[in-house]
Amino acid sequence: MNATTDITAIRAAFETDLQAIATEQDLQHVRDRYLGRKQGTVATLMRSLANAPAETKPALGKSANALKRDIEQALSKKGTALRTSMKSTDSLDVTLPGRELAFGRRHPLTIIREQIETIFETMGFETLQGPQVEDDYHNFEALNMPADHPARDMQDTFYLDQSIPGTGDPALPATLLRTHTSGMQIRYMETHTPPVRIIAPGLVYRRDTPDLTHSPMFMQVEGLVVDQGITMADLKGTLVEFLQAFFDTETKVTFRPSFFPYTEPSAEVFISCVFCSGNGCSVCKTTGWLEILGCGMVHPAVFEAVGYDPELYTGWAFGIGIDRVALLKYRVEDIRLFYDNDLRLLEQFPH
Ligand code: DAH
Repeated sequence: MNATTDITAIRAAFETDLQAIATEQDLQHVRDRYLGRKQGTVATLMRSLANAPAETKPALGKSANALKRDIEQALSKKGTALRTSMKSTDSLDVTLPGRELAFGRRHPLTIIREQIETIFETMGFETLQGPQVEDDYHNFEALNMPADHPARDMQDTFYLDQSIPGTGDPALPATLLRTHTSGMQIRYMETHTPPVRIIAPGLVYRRDTPDLTHSPMFMQVEGLVVDQGITMADLKGTLVEFLQAFFDTETKVTFRPSFFPYTEPSAEVFISCVFCSGNGCSVCKTTGWLEILGCGMVHPAVFEAVGYDPELYTGWAFGIGIDRVALLKYRVEDIRLFYDNDLRLLEQFPH
């Protein structure tokens, strides 16, 4: 084989290889095969020219150089073509508008619960969680509501299967869906000694017929403070501070006598109507006042149930409806909207 036929054969082989190039990687392989400094086909050809007869050497050298140049040019053109075709199919068009991410939002009741928690935590309270399936003892009995106590009728209860006469194991204690968060007072005091300064938010359940202001599932926050020398003045000061931080500093607060079996004395707290500033409107039924929470000084019978000495310790407790204050703060008219999870309502609240 002589150098002339070599050059023709190399050209033909290169044309075939060039056509087969589809990726940058193929391109690199072909470049290495033909233009590699040591093993490359062109370098080998150049070396073989040394042995060519003197009279054909110059012409062969010229053809070999032309071959090398043609291969270099063809590969560089192929490289440019590859890069432009990739750009139009695979690359990202940075000028396109972005796709909007669908962020979830916090539920309005979560927002309100966190606001309440923050205010009390700033005052040194600890936030607790407790079970929604509760036993009769913590929900009623230890709170000075023994079986058949008329005050149990204040809260119509969802009993769980085993508590319904004739269906459950009589050896098991009655279980129910907690009707209020007050059982958390008992659960905490059973396992801790004073001083106590806690709040316990969470869901509670009652067999109420749903209407604008009632839902069978709703939320409360319980509060409890116990120590030596705690008085009703501490209760009043703390709750006024809380209500003015939560609503606004102009909010007027008034306490009226009430009854709860687990507090003595007991009170209901009213705030000046947030809709009419106390002038009288349909929401406050022209009274100018809105009932907002129940509270009182912890009953000695409750201390006895948890083994606290009622001669040594005093304390106060309160329970506030999260839904109720959320309705007032957000001016939502129907409590059921909080549990329908209709996005048209939920999307109106901040992220
Ligand atoms: N448990 C009461 C209710 O659900 C609210 C309440 C009233 C809680 C007085 C208390 C309290 O801790 O002292 O209506």
